[in-house]
Amino acid sequence: MRKTVLITGGAGFIGSHFTEYLLAHYPDYEVRVLDALTYAGRRENLAAVEGDPRFIFIHGDVRDKQTVREAMQGAHDVVHFAAETHVDRSILDPDAFITTDVYGSFVMLETARQVGVERFVHVSTDEVYGAIEQGAFTEESPLRPSSPYAASKAGADLLVQAYARTYGLPVLIVRPSNTFGSRQYPEKLIPLFTVRALHDQPLPLYGDGQQRRDWLYVGDHVRAIDTVLHRGQFGEAYNIAGGNERANIEVSRLILHTLGKPESLIQFVKDRPAHDRRYALDDSKLRALGWRPEADFETALRETVLWYANHPEWWQPILQNKQDYQAFVQRWYGR
Ligand SMILES: NC(=O)c1ccc[n+]([C@@H]2O[C@H](COP(=O)([O-])OP(=O)(O)OC[C@H]3O[C@@H](n4cnc5c(N)ncnc54)[C@H](O)[C@@H]3O)[C@@H](O)[C@H]2O)c1
Repeated sequence: MRKTVLITGGAGFIGSHFTEYLLAHYPDYEVRVLDALTYAGRRENLAAVEGDPRFIFIHGDVRDKQTVREAMQGAHDVVHFAAETHVDRSILDPDAFITTDVYGSFVMLETARQVGVERFVHVSTDEVYGAIEQGAFTEESPLRPSSPYAASKAGADLLVQAYARTYGLPVLIVRPSNTFGSRQYPEKLIPLFTVRALHDQPLPLYGDGQQRRDWLYVGDHVRAIDTVLHRGQFGEAYNIAGGNERANIEVSRLILHTLGKPESLIQFVKDRPAHDRRYALDDSKLRALGWRPEADFETALRETVLWYANHPEWWQPILQNKQDYQAFVQRWYGR
């Protein structure tokens, strides 16, 4: 069936992978990407699809009602990724997290209600649940976010649920765990540590390095969203787990081993305030739709690290940005 899908945040890490995936797997689909190109969004992330006649890029902000209305007009489905996404930045400057993640999601939902879309997939996060010491969160677990980032995502998640109940909007929510792969902004653990290791710079590991995350490969992540978009039940939320729970220190060592660098580069630094100790998700609801993660963690991590090692042209301009990247790193790690 011929259809148009509006993807917000498609110039970012996961959104660009999802855009590529959708165009590659659905020859009848047209994709519109709406993205504000903030510090995290880059047009070059979409290089693989730029020449495709089924692809349109719209430079605009999800907080701008007029822009969103024009972008959504005539779209059948919406997949809403656009957000401010870095926990550390949300601790320094929460403003943009509230306006983009909460208000921007409201603008998206309200426009979807007025325009009338067939499906609205909201990309939430496992961080909305907060930390869990043992066991795993199900979709029914209460939302107990710890950081301003997680709270802004929880606010959006609840608004999406309210739009389903109040207006019958055909929404679906995904709550993915920590994702990794190529084209992730080098402020998140895996790309940050990789580019620092490549420069023989210390890897700033928070606290004792024993925080545990369930790592999800981006290829598995985008297949999960595809599954929910096409087979999910309206009004439902779906956890996306990677099945690869590792302590941050283990991940740091794997990065160093891949690059042939010494473990002495690991430097323990002051912990992030309210740092969640462990995240874990029960993904049986999503597996019942036929999805399961396929990537082998060690192999996918190695490929990811080598992708950064082989693509300095992708991350060098970011590292050289004095106003944004260097200023942020200095403010955050110098605090
Ligand atoms: N990366 C992860 O580990 C992870 C895990 C779970 C959930 N998520 C969620 O997945 C989504 C995508 O995450 P990501 O890691 O790809 O993020 P990212 O930071 O790489 O990309 C975010 C994109 O959104 C765009 N954007 C930001 N503010 C905007 C605005 N006001 N209007 C329009 N566009 C705007 C940016 O330009 C960028 O292209 C987010 O909603 C995030 O909360 C991410």
